[in-house]
Parts: sequence; structure tokens; C-alpha cells
Amino acid sequence: MSPFMDKTLLFLGLLCCIQVSTALMCYDCNSEFDPRCGDPFEPYSIGEVNCSKQEPLEHLKDKFKPMLCRKTVQKIYGKTRIVRGCGYIPDERTDRECVRRSGTHDVSATYCSCTKDLCNAATAVGNSQMLMLLGLASICTLFVTRHSIRDMSS
Ligand SMILES: *[C@@H]1O[C@H](CO)[C@@H](O)[C@H](O)[C@H]1NC(C)=O
Repeated sequence: MSPFMDKTLLFLGLLCCIQVSTALMCYDCNSEFDPRCGDPFEPYSIGEVNCSKQEPLEHLKDKFKPMLCRKTVQKIYGKTRIVRGCGYIPDERTDRECVRRSGTHDVSATYCSCTKDLCNAATAVGNSQMLMLLGLASICTLFVTRHSIRDMSS
């Protein structure tokens, strides 16, 4: 099988696993208005939101519903602000690592996103979750592969 096919199958496998969860809960807060939203996080005192009940973004209408939780750490002139909430578009770093963007001098932001309920509580994105996801993905991939092989030989 070509590497391209492999990648396509893995992608399909991942999709079929991720899409099964319909409702998603995330923490939604801003440390600017509630210090408990910062690190260390105090999850019990802060509201959870049902991201599945949020409106899709206007310009993404009919395309993307919220399907991930995100956490943003903004550092502006030595001040840190942490914003947690629902997110929309997953990328290859979702559930794996955070993305750091540096702006001008003394301004930077780090974005983390993840796809499990209430996963934007902690800083680290779960490695065990990623392993589980990979495991599920391989099972899905195997399943898809088996089927296509059987279809071809019949
Ligand atoms: C979140 O909202 C969805 C869609 O309305 C609903 O199906 C689901 O049960 C809700 N989940 C929780 C935990 O309230």
C-alpha cells in the first residue's frame, strides 16, 4: 500500500473515532475577570459550559460546531491572562501539544486544544488520552483496511 493510502486511512480512522462523541463540556472562563481561572486552576468554583449548545461561529455556519476545548495563555508585558473556552477547528496539534506564538517584544500567547470533556482544566494535554486516541485510530484503520481488502477480492 502506498504511503498516501496509509495516511488517508489513518485520517479516516481518526475521524471516525473523534466524531462519535456528540456533546462536549469545557471550562469557560477568563483569569482577567476571575483569578481562579488561572494556574493553578480551581475547577470546582468555575462554570462548565456545554459547547454543543453554543452557536456555530457565524462565518463557519453549517460547517463547524464547537468540538474541542481550548486554553490560551497570553503574556502581555509581564502580565499573564488565561482564557479557557470552547474551540472550533482541530488541527494536527490538538490533543498533542500547545502552539506558542510570539508577537512583538514582551507579548506572547500559547494555545492548547483538546477534545475530551473538561480537558482544558490543566496545562498539560493528556498523553494517555493521546495514546488511547491512537489506539482507537489504529483499530478503526484496521477495520477500514480489512473491509477494503475484502471488497477488492470479492
Ligand atoms: C449538551 O448539549 C447537548 C445538545 O443540546 C445535549 O445533547 C447534551 O446532553 C448536553 N450535555 C450535558 C452534559 O448537559
